Amino acid sequence: MRRMMLNGSLVLTAVVTVALCSFSWAQATKAEEDRRLGMESHIGKLTGHAAAAQGTYRRYCVGCHGVLGDGEGENAQWLDPKPRNFTLGIFKCRSTTTGTLPLDSDLFDTIGRGLDSSNMPSWNPLSSQERADLAAYVKHFSARWVTEKPGTPIEIPKKPEVTAERLKAGQEVFQRVECWKCHGPTGMGNGPSAATLTDDQNRPILPYNFHDGNRFKCGTTDEDLYRIFMTGLDGTPMPSWSDNIKPDEAWDLVFYLRTLQPMKSKAKEIARQIGLKPGAPSAAPASAPQQ
Ligand code: HEC
Ligand code: HEC
Repeated sequence: MRRMMLNGSLVLTAVVTVALCSFSWAQATKAEEDRRLGMESHIGKLTGHAAAAQGTYRRYCVGCHGVLGDGEGENAQWLDPKPRNFTLGIFKCRSTTTGTLPLDSDLFDTIGRGLDSSNMPSWNPLSSQERADLAAYVKHFSARWVTEKPGTPIEIPKKPEVTAERLKAGQEVFQRVECWKCHGPTGMGNGPSAATLTDDQNRPILPYNFHDGNRFKCGTTDEDLYRIFMTGLDGTPMPSWSDNIKPDEAWDLVFYLRTLQPMKSKAKEIARQIGLKPGAPSAAPASAPQQ
């Protein structure tokens, strides 16, 4: 009897403890949420405040990115690629090294630019203050910003002059580091690994096809292109190449990649003049023709 009472009171204590715990847990998350709403972003002279973006986010972003920022908004089921899950703190468009958080200005630029070949629109119609506030709000969803600092931005040396030699060198880099395994021997997105690729959340993903002329997701300038393959697109199979490609070679590669795209460029013009064809560099003749 005494033993049963003891058990009974133990159970009661357990129930009370659990109830108290969940009560204090709820309190903690509310406090945590309030604290995170104090998150700021700093872009040049602008300071963004997460708390100020609550209305804008609910109006323009929630349908895709969800109330909790987990990418599970009501429209998400119809979209491919899926909206970003902000709670993970992992982003494609960064000027920082792979695996690190982006700069506030990276998020700000992404929000203004949108992501081509996806349903993420450009939010340039919003004011820069609103976009800065939204950048802070995007950050407030992930605890990573409480414990980590953004990574170091990669350095981009000044763009050299494009020459025939650089185009050929860029083609060699494309072969050597095996961009073709995914992007295909001529850059059409049909390499031997292309069909099997998945993103970090196990969803199928296709490599970019340089010939279809879509704008890159993370910016369109030569510097953007340099940055895209040197930092990698985190969360996708597109790796960072900063350990395998030297800065000078990276510029060669930028110029060669431009020859694969349909848009006019100086690189494309030179490639035409020298008859550079996409694909493996044509093997030199086994022996010089006899005269
Ligand atoms: C119609 C759906 C849709 C709406 C509305 C939308 N997004 Fe997105 N967003 C996406 C999709 C889809 C992606 C992922 C695209 C990809 O991975 O290529 C994305 C990605 C992002 C990213 C991550 C970019 C990166 O570098 O990985 C940010 C930041 C972002 N959205 C912010 C916003 C903000 C802020 C708003 C509201 C002003 C918003 N989005 C509204 C669909 C949407
Ligand atoms: C393991 C496969 C793989 C390899 C190897 C690879 N890529 Fe990618 N790459 C991808 C995937 C997948 C994407 C698409 C990511 C996305 O849409 O979010 C991509 C995207 C890109 C983009 C951006 C396209 C856009 O829409 O913004 C560029 C540029 C690029 N790759 C260049 C390269 C270069 C240059 C190399 C070699 C140095 C290379 N890639 C090697 C898989 C790969």
